Amino acid sequence: MKTLNTISQTKQFLLEAKKEGKSIGFVPTMGALHEGHLTLMRRAKKENDLLAVSVFVNPIQFNNPEDLKKYPRDLEKDKQLLKSVGCDVVFAPTVDEMYPEEKVTEHFDFGKLETVMEGAFRPGHFNGVAVVVKRLFNIITPDKAYFGEKDFQQLAIIKQLVKMENMPLEIVPCAIVRESDGLAMSSRNERLTPDERALAPFIHQTLQQAVRLKTEKSPLEIVQWVTDKFKEQPAFTLEYFELADAVFLQPVKRWEKAKGTIGFVAAFLGDVRLIDNIRFY
Ligand code: PAJ
Repeated sequence: MKTLNTISQTKQFLLEAKKEGKSIGFVPTMGALHEGHLTLMRRAKKENDLLAVSVFVNPIQFNNPEDLKKYPRDLEKDKQLLKSVGCDVVFAPTVDEMYPEEKVTEHFDFGKLETVMEGAFRPGHFNGVAVVVKRLFNIITPDKAYFGEKDFQQLAIIKQLVKMENMPLEIVPCAIVRESDGLAMSSRNERLTPDERALAPFIHQTLQQAVRLKTEKSPLEIVQWVTDKFKEQPAFTLEYFELADAVFLQPVKRWEKAKGTIGFVAAFLGDVRLIDNIRFY
């Protein structure tokens, strides 16, 4: 496994691979790797000749400075895990390498995709994601890039980015990987206290219960039901629960079966912000 820190070295390495006719599968990450990330990587390794992974905590996608400061970083541990999934090349740049300019001014317009949910509650977040992912795609030039449905809205934004920029690659969506008690795996789970960790499965359990009620309740009633459930749990502060269509992510009043309907949640447990989602239709 090669670990490279500069853009030029990485481009050169991958250009050689391309010349040999090798296909490149790419998994962008912010490190603090867990089984969720590794599942994406095993798939990318299987479906391509070469697995490239980036590890970069992208400062411009954090709207909360405290969150950026506390984001777990351990490249040595990550490298061990990357070796275990047969990663061929790790791109781990510094902030200066990725952002040589004094201030990033690039701006994308994702329309209604970025005015809801994570876009509404984390101003600038998706622009920061799009800027870094576009740069990473240009450096890695993957044939396929793998993204988790854990960040469903991010996935929708990336698909739109690829369309808008006419980028020649395939975006591969991957199912949410969960702990055995249902909690969606996340690097932020590490920051939960043992007591909070024990409460955390409540999120997925509540979403599952809500799905079971879909035939007897309207979307509006489901939203109310979930909101009430969270009110009964003082450890959680619900930021939003929304039922939205699976393509444009706009709130639904009636069950959207053609596009699909997804329930999206963001909640604080202590000072850790957790997100999750589940398919209704
Ligand atoms: P990060 O949070 O490290 O996640 C990297 C990839 O792993 C994302 O596609 C994310 O959706 C996926 N992932 C994380 N937890 C998962 C889980 N439990 N199940 C399935 N997939 C999971 O997302 C980012 O980094 C950044 O925004 C990035 C795209 C790298 C841009 O900076």
